[in-house]
Amino acid sequence: MATNFIWGPDGNLPRIEEHTKRKLDVLKNYLDVYFDTVVRNPAQDRLNITLVDGFSGGGAYSDGNDTRAGSPLVLLNAVEEATVRLNEGRAKPLEINARFIFVDDEREHVAALKRELRGRGYKENDPQISVLEGKFVEHLPTIMAEITQTQRKGRCQSRSKMGPRTGVKLGHWV
Ligand SMILES: C[S@@+](CC[C@H](N)C(=O)[O-])C[C@H]1O[C@@H](n2cnc3c(N)ncnc32)[C@H](O)[C@@H]1O
Repeated sequence: MATNFIWGPDGNLPRIEEHTKRKLDVLKNYLDVYFDTVVRNPAQDRLNITLVDGFSGGGAYSDGNDTRAGSPLVLLNAVEEATVRLNEGRAKPLEINARFIFVDDEREHVAALKRELRGRGYKENDPQISVLEGKFVEHLPTIMAEITQTQRKGRCQSRSKMGPRTGVKLGHWV
């Protein structure tokens, strides 16, 4: 694997390359537009969404003297920012109920991502965030089963109350 994508046990972050910066900018912009588009109805008070990053990497890069968010943090930050942005001026508060699933097949990368998340205040046992080690294709059936179950629940809620809507974003960001 290229050295710019190796997260080792020493905690040193790989140096980000220009093409990765561009890719992560595209991902962020896409998510911003996505949230702004799906939550246009002012009566909607909840958005259920599962965000899956099947090739998550270690979570952050070094960028000169700075640290730059990798794709898992881009997803987490996008949801946080959308919650603030979309609640501005809303009479009825909107909750984005997001579930995050991160997968990587390198043990050290999984460890680096968990370290990065811990360092940013995310709890190891946060039920909304799973960090899985292994090949994405091997985890996919279980992930799809969970999403299908969540969607069924969302549909039942939708019948009784206007608002809940379940979205799924399956990512393949390498
Ligand atoms: C380019 S790096 C990750 C970049 C990350 N998505 C980002 O944008 O910050 C690709 C990652 O995919 C992982 N990987 C490669 N093949 C994989 C597979 N079949 N299943 C899961 N992870 C895989 C590698 O270990 C590596 O950490």
